[in-house]
Amino acid sequence: MSEPPVNVSTLRRMKQDGEPIACLTAYDASYAVLVDAARTDLVLVGDSLGMVIQGHDTTVPVTVDDIIYHCRTVARRLHRAFLVADMPFMSYTEPGQALDNAVRLMQEAGAMMVKLEGGDDQVAIVEHLARHDIPVCAHLGLKPQSVHKIGGFKVQGREPDKAQEMLESAKRLQDAGADIVLLECVPNEAGRMVTEALDVPVIGIGAGPDVDGQILVLYDVLDITQGRTPRFVKNFQAGLDSPLAALQAYVRAVKEKKYPEPEHCFS
Ligand code: KIV
Repeated sequence: MSEPPVNVSTLRRMKQDGEPIACLTAYDASYAVLVDAARTDLVLVGDSLGMVIQGHDTTVPVTVDDIIYHCRTVARRLHRAFLVADMPFMSYTEPGQALDNAVRLMQEAGAMMVKLEGGDDQVAIVEHLARHDIPVCAHLGLKPQSVHKIGGFKVQGREPDKAQEMLESAKRLQDAGADIVLLECVPNEAGRMVTEALDVPVIGIGAGPDVDGQILVLYDVLDITQGRTPRFVKNFQAGLDSPLAALQAYVRAVKEKKYPEPEHCFS
């Protein structure tokens, strides 16, 4: 008999039990099969597809239709993992628009949760989505959709007052109804503080070892991404003879808390 799929309650229970949550991105049906077979708990159809699939330099050009196309292909072959879809740049600037687009991602693409980037400025949007029973993941820290405003992909929350602001935003987003908080590119200490303060799971990418789960871009794990990669990236394909073996190695490393190592972290 097949195992029950992961849902929001499973993820909350994992946080309470201290069981690390292993997450990956995926963008198509073939990899959906592999990430599921590797026992990934959560799969994100991220707007990183703008960079790793479409070849753009940033995630900014990605559209709702792009996410729907890729998320549909993943949803067809994903059976166990919890499926999250990114809301792309400018697709959630006001509550009505955010709700319309989130509904499309769930109804047309099969997403079980939507992810949006933002802090205090997104509290009203998260509240509106949560009021309509749309599960939400709030993405804090480095927000790649803001890359042109920030001036590059930079570590966030290094200064104590900025880390404190991030913590307060995370709490407000949880109170507004966010079911998961994702932290990107923050020092270990900020990752730990936010994780300890929240009841909802905190997933990190470059947020240190003391978060409830880890996520990486699939093509980074498989060493497909060429050129310079961020410090938190680890090639799990090295020395292994199949993509499935690499994905299993990643999931095992997350579950056994062997990833991230100090060289993947920020201080
Ligand atoms: O778009 C994406 O893949 C993401 C992850 C990097 C967390 O947001």
